[in-house]
Amino acid sequence: MFSDYEAFFAPGRVNLIGEHIDYNGGYVFPCALTIGTYVFVKKRDDDKLRFFSLNKTRFGVKESNLKNMEKGIKTESFADYPLGVMYTLTKNNYPVTSGLDLVFYGNLPSGAGLSSSASMEVVTAYMVKEMFGYDLDFIEMAKLCQWSENNFNGVNCGIMDQFASAMGKNKNAIYLNTNTLDYSYVPVPMDGISLVIANSNNPHKLSDSAYNTRREECSKALLQLKKVLDIKNLCDIIPDEFEKYRDVIEDEVVRKRAKHAIYENARTKEAVKVLKEGDLERFGELLKEAHMSMKDDYEATGKALDTLFFEAIDFDGCIGSRMTGGGFGGCTVSFVKKERVREFKKKVGTAYERKMGIRAVFYEMEIGDGPSKKDSKVIYDLIKSPKFLDIVKGEMKKYF
Ligand code: GLA
Repeated sequence: MFSDYEAFFAPGRVNLIGEHIDYNGGYVFPCALTIGTYVFVKKRDDDKLRFFSLNKTRFGVKESNLKNMEKGIKTESFADYPLGVMYTLTKNNYPVTSGLDLVFYGNLPSGAGLSSSASMEVVTAYMVKEMFGYDLDFIEMAKLCQWSENNFNGVNCGIMDQFASAMGKNKNAIYLNTNTLDYSYVPVPMDGISLVIANSNNPHKLSDSAYNTRREECSKALLQLKKVLDIKNLCDIIPDEFEKYRDVIEDEVVRKRAKHAIYENARTKEAVKVLKEGDLERFGELLKEAHMSMKDDYEATGKALDTLFFEAIDFDGCIGSRMTGGGFGGCTVSFVKKERVREFKKKVGTAYERKMGIRAVFYEMEIGDGPSKKDSKVIYDLIKSPKFLDIVKGEMKKYF
């Protein structure tokens, strides 16, 4: 199985700090993970584009073709993420010129805010680059993937997720200025420390509409501040200036959203500075402040994430913790002393289940690299369960 396929991978991401400011021209500080999305691909002799997801085998194959792809005709399925990227690349002089059989497999927890869509977009762009031999650089790739998600899939996201997936570097976080796209890599000291992600398993149904509402509120705040300040983005302002001009923003809720963005930007800059200096204690405090700001001013956390957060920061051996990603459900990220991780999972997990009636799942994560080509045999490492492998083989025989 898959021996005549090429295999490619792109990672998911976790954001350490700098939340909801990639669309306000602020600094963000994400890192790529070692888990993400794989695509197994084979060129076809005709013009068909056939998409199959090993995570959604029951949906069968979704089909398009080169002409429909070029016209931007959708399939109304998961395939619209990779299809959108092919459409976008084709329009930007990186055309998909032959039919393809594509099989996707993701090992990120789904709907957990660890950028499964961005990793699917980036792995598609990387696959096109490699299969058709294009000289497409990774920043351009990230921009095109964001364009595709905004315009093809109608999700108004910023650049952070695609950038982190495309530009990830093992053991490093990416300090990214989302206004200029200047960036630098900052080593994350993991000596004796674990990066623990807790998935709240709390469905976040409202997240897309709430995300867009937050964006609109930030735009309103910017418009009002522009009457008195010569600025392009909310994050052009430092906290002192915000305090001076805050009353220009009439609506109290809108004012709180602006406050979060502007203080979060300052926190992110300080967090990177103290991390470089090795001051983990202050770094941890900033993570906590960032969570509280997402809770009180941005109101994008909710009971599940708050419960995980409060339990985590109460634990001796937890250096810092916060919600990560878009919010309204999803995950927290915590830095925990390695020798205390088992206890941490047990204590936080038990309290969370008692209070929320659902189980959280904990992952000790490694910081990984951006996209890469893999040996197609990787599939056997990914699908460890013999039963699932049988299902996959059966489904594959049906369609390919
Ligand atoms: C989602 C978006 C990102 C970013 C985060 C919040 O993950 O895709 O662009 O806005 O939310 O920081």
